[in-house]
Amino acid sequence: MKFFLDTANVEAIKRISELGIADGVTTNPTIISREGRDFETVIKEICSLISGPVSAEVTGLTASEMVEEARVIAKWADNIVIKIPMTEEGLKAVNILSKEGIKTNVTLIFTVSQGLMAMKAGATFISPFIGRLEDIGTDAYRLIADLRQIIDLYGFTTEIIAASIRNSTHVEKVAKLGAHIATIPDGLFTKLTQHPLTAAGIETFLKDWETFKNN
Ligand code: E4P
Repeated sequence: MKFFLDTANVEAIKRISELGIADGVTTNPTIISREGRDFETVIKEICSLISGPVSAEVTGLTASEMVEEARVIAKWADNIVIKIPMTEEGLKAVNILSKEGIKTNVTLIFTVSQGLMAMKAGATFISPFIGRLEDIGTDAYRLIADLRQIIDLYGFTTEIIAASIRNSTHVEKVAKLGAHIATIPDGLFTKLTQHPLTAAGIETFLKDWETFKNN
């Protein structure tokens, strides 16, 4: 299973990539806007820090606008993935881009049918949103399991990026259900390494070691 970082914060990407567990990065217009920096500059900087796929989202609403934006963004680095919203226009764009060898991540997936349509159109990745589905009382885990079953049944090469991940339970459950990737906000990454008993254990071991050395 791969872990992507769901952030455009370059300092966080540098810090977490040192742990050797960041296989890629996902962004969206909200995440980029939080940094208050130029889109192209940030994406290029992230691509120089991470060798795996880096998703950059288009903002056009028609297929031709999306394709035009995507062709420009795809030239920024070799590891760029174009993030496209799940609409009919989006699928048209994915179909064109996949034939040009440009990788795509179809985002805002909330149903099995949407995921299936994106796979058929040639998406490299699909991003079902866990947290936002839970917000409306829908079983997000069923979606991950069903999408994985369809991929395995028909041999699609599309990979599932479990997105809108908000807590460690989300990460653990999507891992068990076969999401190929979980994209995780930087704040949560830190929490995933911690447990109060780990901290307490380290403290006790060091205290006992000091006592032993001083006797
Ligand atoms: C990443 O691909 C998604 O855009 C992101 O995970 C959405 O997260 P949110 O639902 O917490 O905004």
